[in-house]
Amino acid sequence: MAPLIQCDDLWKIYRVGDVEVQALRGLSLTIEQGEFVAIMGSSGSGKSTLMNILGCLDQPTRGRYRLNGVEVGHLRPDQLADIRNRQIGFVFQSFNLIPRTSALENAQLPLFYRGLSLKEQRAMAAAALQRVGLGGREHHFPTQLSGGQQQRVAIARALVTAPSLLLADEPTGNLDTQSSQEIMSILEGLNREGITVILVTHEIDVAAYAHREIVIKDGQVLSDRATKGRSQTVGV
Ligand SMILES: Nc1ncnc2c1ncn2[C@@H]1O[C@H](COP(=O)(O)OP(=O)(O)O)[C@@H](O)[C@H]1O
Ligand SMILES: [Mg+2]
Repeated sequence: MAPLIQCDDLWKIYRVGDVEVQALRGLSLTIEQGEFVAIMGSSGSGKSTLMNILGCLDQPTRGRYRLNGVEVGHLRPDQLADIRNRQIGFVFQSFNLIPRTSALENAQLPLFYRGLSLKEQRAMAAAALQRVGLGGREHHFPTQLSGGQQQRVAIARALVTAPSLLLADEPTGNLDTQSSQEIMSILEGLNREGITVILVTHEIDVAAYAHREIVIKDGQVLSDRATKGRSQTVGV
């Protein structure tokens, strides 16, 4: 079986006016289905650029990215959109919820594009909210929820389509310690159920939940090592 993610010699060059930024510089990486990976590295090292490519939100300038054995660079925009909708869930640092829209409607959004009935959309979104511990908050607006709860809505939205890959770019960057732990426990549980989780973080405590730690520097892999994962460290 092909690895879930296989990157070979990825380059990403941004051009802004006359300035050229090499955000990825020949990065190669393989991630298998079911892994829980933390990506670390200083600001500007290329982490978000990599996540955007892994999530099919952006394409590399050079190099090859295969997702589930399919070379993403050869796909049309509508095919990429389909892959994003069916296989990938995203969680961002800033939650990216739609304001003045209920938790349920936020979580429903990816299903809207699937032609499901409203009733099915609502049932699936409600189940996803339940799964992240927000049963009973379906009709709250983002402003009526704490940061940690808003991020849980964002996770519900990401998993409502039953993706095989969850990408989280600094999901705890705007949260206090307790909310961060809650979010990480949710991601840990999703990984235990079989979802591949790739998360970017600056925090060692957050990275400690993962089973593999990849450090990116100047658009390349600096180090890549297996780690214990929190469950084995604290014995839960
Ligand atoms: N859309 C963009 N246009 C131009 N330069 C960008 C863009 N996105 C990122 N960069 C540059 O690419 C480099 C890597 O950025 P990024 O991937 O966001 O790093 P990180 O997430 O590790 O902080 C930085 O120098 C950044 O300024
Ligand atoms: Mg970033």
